[in-house]
Amino acid sequence: MSILVTGGAGYIGSHTCIELLNAGYEIVVVDNFYNSKRESLKRIAELSGKEFTFYECDIRDKEGLDKIFKAEKIDAVIHFAGLKAVGESCAKPLEYYDNNIAGTVCLCEVMKENGCKKIVFSSSATVYGSNNVSPLKETMMTGGTTNPYGTTKYMIEIILSDLFKSDNEWSISILRYFNPIGAHKSGRIGEDPNGIPNNLMPYITQVAIGKRECLGVFGDDYDTHDGTGVRDYIHVVDLALGHVKALGRALNQPGLDIYNLGTGTGYSVLDVVKAFEKASGVTINYKIAPRRPGDIATCYSDPSKAQAELGWKAERGIEEMCADSWRWQSTNPNGYPD
Ligand code: NAD
Ligand code: UD1
Repeated sequence: MSILVTGGAGYIGSHTCIELLNAGYEIVVVDNFYNSKRESLKRIAELSGKEFTFYECDIRDKEGLDKIFKAEKIDAVIHFAGLKAVGESCAKPLEYYDNNIAGTVCLCEVMKENGCKKIVFSSSATVYGSNNVSPLKETMMTGGTTNPYGTTKYMIEIILSDLFKSDNEWSISILRYFNPIGAHKSGRIGEDPNGIPNNLMPYITQVAIGKRECLGVFGDDYDTHDGTGVRDYIHVVDLALGHVKALGRALNQPGLDIYNLGTGTGYSVLDVVKAFEKASGVTINYKIAPRRPGDIATCYSDPSKAQAELGWKAERGIEEMCADSWRWQSTNPNGYPD
């Protein structure tokens, strides 16, 4: 059983590749290294003890993708490749629409032409917009996204659902991730952001290692237990295992299924800071800063559908997430070598 993993060199993709190899799948990875390094592929092989095929290819390169499908017997695709920075998407909307939407359309065309109709797609809790009240359920309204990145995820969900309506032989699994943090237990792979991190955990770990002076806590006047924003942080290995479960279902039955992948528990920014300090023994210098435009007070999942239908549940708690993020950052202070 051979699975094509687009964006497999990236943060979530690399962790998922390991769990797929551990589960006995053969994988073929495609990445253009826009936001990742070749070293992560070496470490996937090191940690899994298994070899796999890799192609450096852009998913918008239809001919290149077609050659891969002709050379390999691909049974299903897990599609991570895409751009993900909210701020950058506001500055460069066309790049985001091109990479994420045109890239996904190109991939689906090549899949269809080669008779491969099974795909697991990386969506995001961002598709719920700002008007739904947590816990967020898959049946709630989506849309009302506030930035081009979020809009690409919303639009791709619509494209995939139209594809399924046109041909119900497709197996499409849309996974809405909440806030992935943490790293592989070994500390050998993890999140390696370029420049100043936008997201909370990489910012905290960079303050802890001394690369940044102080964490800005974006707002302490939200309607939450301590006034700071509440999110559903999920360990990236739990997330990776969710993909293995979703893939298993997609391989066995056609359909369009949407699942939240979260823990169902919300933590505030200050809860995360405290949990990180406890797990690492390092004190985090922080100060309260203005709210970040576009942020909402509270966002957490109802993950019960994934448990009922996939038999998947997040197992790792916030302290383990913090300890694993810290092990990765402290043993790889500059991320992956070039
Ligand atoms: P990442 O940037 O670490 O990984 C994405 C990978 O895709 C990178 O290796 C990048 O080089 C590759 N890529 C980008 N464009 C490509 C293209 N056109 N052709 C080939 N490869 C390309 O990001 P991640 O955190 O691992 O996220 C994976 C997916 O999950 C993305 O689609 C992202 O939008 C989605 N997602 C991420 C989060 C999160 O917080 N990390 C949350 C929700 C959804
Ligand atoms: C962000 C994206 C979202 C994306 C998700 C996962 C925005 C507005 N939203 O969500 O589209 O799907 O990442 O990649 O960027 N915080 C601080 N200081 C910081 C960084 C963050 O206080 O330096 C706070 C935020 O205000 C928020 C929480 O920490 O309350 C989590 O922020 P972040 O990690 O950026 O994730 P989200 O905003 O939930």
